[in-house]
Amino acid sequence: MTNLRLGIIGMGNIGQHHASYLQAGQVPRVELVAASDVVTEKIERFRPLAIFSDGEALIRSGLVDAVVIATPHFQHTTLGIAALRQGLHVMVEKPVSAHKADAERLIAAHREHPRLVFAGMFQLRSEPRYLKLRQIIQGGDLGTIVRLNWIITDWFRTEAYYASGGWRATWRGEGGGVLLNQCLHNLDILTWLLGQPVRVRGFCQFGRFHDIEVEDNVTACLEYPGGATGVFVTSTGEAPGTNRLEIAGTRGRLVLENDRLVFTRNETDMLEFSQTAKLGFAKPETRVEEIPFANSPAPHAALMQNFADAILDGAPLIAPGVEGIHSVELANAMLYSSLLGQTIELPMDSAAFERRLQQLIAESKHKKKVAAVSNADFASSFRR
Ligand SMILES: NC(=O)c1ccc[n+]([C@@H]2O[C@H](COP(=O)([O-])OP(=O)(O)OC[C@H]3O[C@@H](n4cnc5c(N)ncnc54)[C@H](O)[C@@H]3O)[C@@H](O)[C@H]2O)c1
Repeated sequence: MTNLRLGIIGMGNIGQHHASYLQAGQVPRVELVAASDVVTEKIERFRPLAIFSDGEALIRSGLVDAVVIATPHFQHTTLGIAALRQGLHVMVEKPVSAHKADAERLIAAHREHPRLVFAGMFQLRSEPRYLKLRQIIQGGDLGTIVRLNWIITDWFRTEAYYASGGWRATWRGEGGGVLLNQCLHNLDILTWLLGQPVRVRGFCQFGRFHDIEVEDNVTACLEYPGGATGVFVTSTGEAPGTNRLEIAGTRGRLVLENDRLVFTRNETDMLEFSQTAKLGFAKPETRVEEIPFANSPAPHAALMQNFADAILDGAPLIAPGVEGIHSVELANAMLYSSLLGQTIELPMDSAAFERRLQQLIAESKHKKKVAAVSNADFASSFRR
């Protein structure tokens, strides 16, 4: 195979965005040949691409080698499994599934077809700021991780946003709120930087700022295997909102905020200093370093390029689909903990959470409002 024949399933906000950079030729060796959406008006304008009003029909068409699944969350699993069983490579939009048990099903389907490339659209992993953070942490420069705080409350969304799709912010259509949708990207980065915590205690508020049934305001406490602790705060109802990631280790502190990454290094490891200092109020000397970084000019295209390179050349994936289960589990655990009023141990019981989610769906009484809304400002929402 020299070129990849690609189809997109779901031509909403992000599906159209993928189509626009692909059709502009920004991803060499990838040819967009087919598109699918259950709403026919959304796909008509993509002719002369082959168009399908049903994602499964595109999958069975024989026209594509790979698909991007950009539908609401629950279909990621069903369409992903159908595509893998058809022998297609799969790129799934985030979250890889609506809940952990579904992610396990999708991963099991991939395990049956290990030669197929299964990737997740976690484009923040291509952003230099997060790559630098990862390099510093994994290189040991921060020492042993002690604490993290991520206040990521600048995912502000309006009522018009929530009305722009019947599936949005419903248990049935989305499976969750801000955790599973907006800040799933941040949860992916968190697990990619620091691994999975062993304990999670979430405090979610449901429809606190919007007329929705799912969570739109969250504070969660995390505990990691080595004893590091964390606090994760997110909201779609805070303006102006904050995006501050602070990670403290025994050798210093990293702060990423306002497009600046600052590393305050301890000249001596904090524990070593504490154990050897002769004075009671002494502190390690510090050195402040600002770490410059650029923004990725086209993060989604970068991940798509990597997907193609993995299929055509065997390149390693930036975001393997199987890793997508971690952010889903973290989002589910924060929510489940809040619903139960208890701390959740990880790995969490995916079947128990699925049953609770099904109960929320069955008992939902919320009247969802849907309105024709312009999401023309969609691209401005990408976090970089
Ligand atoms: N990576 C990112 O930066 C990013 C940004 C936005 C959204 N997303 C993710 O992309 C997905 C879609 O979000 P969106 O904002 O584009 O939603 P959207 O509602 O604008 O688009 C979803 C589209 O899928 C279509 N659809 C539903 N079921 C289908 C099926 N069975 N076959 C074909 N089409 C079907 C709908 O008609 C709709 O047009 C979500 O999982 C979301 O979390 C990712």
